[in-house]
Amino acid sequence: MEIMDGMTAQARVGGGLRPVRGDERARLLDVAVSTGLFQPEDAEGLLGTVLDELAGGKLPEGHAVVVVDGAGGHAAGWAYYAPDPYAANVWNLWWIGVHPAAHGTGLGRLLLEHVEGVVAASQGRILVIETSDHPPMARARAFYAGAGYGERGRIPDFYADGESKVIFSRRVSGAAALAG
Ligand SMILES: CC(C)(COP(=O)(O)OP(=O)(O)OC[C@H]1O[C@@H](n2cnc3c(N)ncnc32)[C@H](O)[C@@H]1OP(=O)(O)O)[C@@H](O)C(=O)NCCC(=O)NCCS
Repeated sequence: MEIMDGMTAQARVGGGLRPVRGDERARLLDVAVSTGLFQPEDAEGLLGTVLDELAGGKLPEGHAVVVVDGAGGHAAGWAYYAPDPYAANVWNLWWIGVHPAAHGTGLGRLLLEHVEGVVAASQGRILVIETSDHPPMARARAFYAGAGYGERGRIPDFYADGESKVIFSRRVSGAAALAG
């Protein structure tokens, strides 16, 4: 998939993509908390660290992207992704989230297509996404399946007793890319 695919989606939904800005740490953590997946202290610990490392130049700028809404140009969602250090040309999507006020408007798809474009342009072969089987993640699982990601396995009781890790992946380049 080429980065242009993301551009096409961008035109379709009226949002836009840009790098993370240094002055929007609080806003991006608010977006994460607004999804209901994080308590503020958990967002701070997990994602605040990522934003600090980005701002400090310890992470490449190209490993995170912000989507802004078409109306006000506000940061409405963001994603963070990185190559897997233990496999050749495999990338992980570590975080993707869109403010609930903008769910269903195409911004999540815009983010995901952008990530796939970056991975493919970097000779990445496979994008891996890990999530949970808990009911609040049903929307995310449907979103990944709808974008061509196949479920590759589950680890029972991974996040907590009774809460499995669910692993999705998709080929983003190479002969098998179109087959998902
Ligand atoms: C998952 C998430 C990023 C999707 O973002 P979004 O902006 O709502 O998704 P989009 O509007 O781009 O929708 C993309 C596709 O998913 C589909 N979709 C959206 N909501 C859906 C739902 N509740 N059930 C099934 N499919 C759904 C849309 O129909 C669309 O398909 P289409 O392009 O074929 O029409 C968003 O729901 C979110 O932030 N969830 C909370 C955070 C989260 O769970 N992150 C993942 C952590 S693993």
